[in-house]
Amino acid sequence: MMTLREFASDSKVLVAAHRGSSGTAPENTMAALREAVDAGASIVEVDIQLSSDEQVIVFHDEVLDRTTDGSGKVGAHSYEELRTVDAGAWYDARFRGEHIPLLSEALDFLGGKVNINIEIKPPRAGEDFTRRVGFVAGMIRERGLQNNTLYSSFHHESLLRLKQEFEGMNTAAIHLPGDERLPSEVVRAANADAYVCSLREVHPAAADDIRAHSIFCGAYTINTPDQLRKAMQLPIKAIVTNFPARIAELLTREYADRI
Ligand code: G3P
Ligand code: MG
Repeated sequence: MMTLREFASDSKVLVAAHRGSSGTAPENTMAALREAVDAGASIVEVDIQLSSDEQVIVFHDEVLDRTTDGSGKVGAHSYEELRTVDAGAWYDARFRGEHIPLLSEALDFLGGKVNINIEIKPPRAGEDFTRRVGFVAGMIRERGLQNNTLYSSFHHESLLRLKQEFEGMNTAAIHLPGDERLPSEVVRAANADAYVCSLREVHPAAADDIRAHSIFCGAYTINTPDQLRKAMQLPIKAIVTNFPARIAELLTREYADRI
């Protein structure tokens, strides 16, 4: 498996499965991670946050309601409570029984198979963000996955903390809506190795800046042939998609020299 630094140094694009293969399975569940690996994704993104008893869980929203049969704030529940909610049936009855994974379960499955993008969700009001950063980095270190893990966040302070406290971590600053700075300015201020934004945020000035500074840029979410065509004309290195199998197939068919 190529490390992220090896990917960064050539002209190839890589397919990043957004919340796993979230277009074909319930997001951020083990089923979605399995489908992403089977699809041949080079990198699998998961979102992480903390339960009330400080277990690192794989989950996107602040509340349980959209993607589980539970309700209320995720961070107000212990992991024992979260473990009882169903995270699959909302998507399709055949996924009934999927649970909210611990990050450790996700890493034990993904480690050694693919590169992992851990998106550290912003801390809750009053939370000491350094704790979630420390827990996550500790898990990666224990497993020796530093070279194959990219940490991303909208909360750039978390990325700065990672760089300060843990050597050799790869980070990506996610563009915050309304932030007028160019990608190079964002990356510099966050001391990050890469930049992530939505496809429409790669406007001409941003694209010029990404090229001029040779920035590793990931863009989300690229799900259709039209979006892929647009992305392939831009300095985008990681194609972040809910449909990794579809995008991998399109790349193989139409952009074989870029994969
Ligand atoms: O990494 C890109 C993307 O995951 C950021 O937004 O809300 O899907 O986690 P979100
Ligand atoms: Mg995310």
